[in-house]
Amino acid sequence: MGLSEDPYGAFVRTAPGKLLASRAGLPRPPRLRRFVPDEEWAVDPALVVGLSGAARVDEVTQWLRDSGIAVGRGDGPLSALVVDASGLRTVAELDELLTLAPRFRRTRGRVLVLSAVPADVEDPEGRAVQRGLEGFVRSLAKEARGGTTVNLLRVADGASTALRSAVEFFCSARSAFVDGQPLVVGEGTPAPARERRVAVVTGAAQGIGAATAQVLARSGHHVVCADVAAAGEQLAAVANRVKGSTLHLDVTAPTAPQRLAEHLADRFDGADVVVHNAGITRDRSFVNLDEDAWRSVLAVNLLAPVRLTEELLRHPGALAPGARFVCLSSINGLAGAKGQTNYATSKAGLVGLVEALAAPLAARGFAVNAVAPGFIETPMTAAMPPVPRELGRRTSSLQQGGLPVDVAEAVGWLAQPDAAGVDGQVLRVCGQNLLGA
Ligand SMILES: NC(=O)c1ccc[n+]([C@@H]2O[C@H](COP(=O)([O-])OP(=O)(O)OC[C@H]3O[C@@H](n4cnc5c(N)ncnc54)[C@H](O)[C@@H]3O)[C@@H](O)[C@H]2O)c1
Repeated sequence: MGLSEDPYGAFVRTAPGKLLASRAGLPRPPRLRRFVPDEEWAVDPALVVGLSGAARVDEVTQWLRDSGIAVGRGDGPLSALVVDASGLRTVAELDELLTLAPRFRRTRGRVLVLSAVPADVEDPEGRAVQRGLEGFVRSLAKEARGGTTVNLLRVADGASTALRSAVEFFCSARSAFVDGQPLVVGEGTPAPARERRVAVVTGAAQGIGAATAQVLARSGHHVVCADVAAAGEQLAAVANRVKGSTLHLDVTAPTAPQRLAEHLADRFDGADVVVHNAGITRDRSFVNLDEDAWRSVLAVNLLAPVRLTEELLRHPGALAPGARFVCLSSINGLAGAKGQTNYATSKAGLVGLVEALAAPLAARGFAVNAVAPGFIETPMTAAMPPVPRELGRRTSSLQQGGLPVDVAEAVGWLAQPDAAGVDGQVLRVCGQNLLGA
């Protein structure tokens, strides 16, 4: 499945590598601790701090305890620091952030700041203060050490269920490569429980798709692993591993939307989760780009999700109540990338699709989000020339590429019914890469 960590990262963790890197001032990427079933991640306790006007300290404390994380008084090392700053309304109150410094220094793991949704704050000073927290969080993420991540949840009124799910995700090992990101958590209504949840992942034969199939299977989904017929053997191996099923589907085929919709309606009583993951690159500078390289990338990466989604929404029974869509965008779509006008157009287009669909889908009880991976160690990035590849790895706050499982964990969380309050958004999984940040 996913590739392992990069060789440089492994080298600088050896004694000679460490010495060399510190003498030469080279990056020393920390080892990220990822989710391992039955392994306790938070060895040290967490601390929940409420600044002026905070209202959520007790419930957040309880949620952390329920998810197996001890919450202490914050005297020693901390595995997580959660700060409710949503009640701050004056510039003077921002001074309270300074009290966090000693606690931040002792945190190795997760820092999570809760804010209000700035647009919901009418008073100009209050709105400025809440918006200011984004700059604070993004900067703190750049200063964090040892694989500690810092993220911001903008909490709308009435967001309890979704907020709980978000707090659990952002304070867990599952969010190891999500860093320096703001996300809005709204109210949302979780989908009704089903005996067997069904997910379909396109491009599931390898890389991020295969890891996503595994994470979704772990959380109890039957996964329909879809990919081109040529990926047959690899696809079968993934489907076997996750005890799912295979579907040979070229997402660009004219018949693909109907075939997928019928498959899901007739065999599975509808999908609870649809992951538009299949994607290709055909990198070339714009002046050298031929029609085929332009059209093929747009066909797989953008037109296929548009057409498949349209048909799934139209076809009776193709979707289960509360179905959740996740589209794989890319930070190159947000930032632009040399040699990738075709790819970036397709990936930015997916953000437009998510934004356009959010309201009409919400009206039917569905939700749609995008995940924008940064540099991830997959066959796609292994094929890059060495210099851009090395740059891609090191230009993030975590100074390394992510693994397919990091993206899969984010997709897996957004696919959960209790993440219902997260809708119409883009979650970057990029270790706070500088690109488009
Ligand atoms: N790897 C990264 O660093 C990175 C970064 C940002 C975004 N992404 C996006 O994440 C997704 C997965 O990336 P990956 O690195 O795992 O890619 P990958 O190349 O390893 O795997 C892509 C899969 O899609 C399948 N596919 C291609 N064309 C298809 C078609 N017409 N129909 C059905 N399946 C098709 C391939 O057979 C393959 O199994 C892509 O959408 C990619 O653009 C990847």
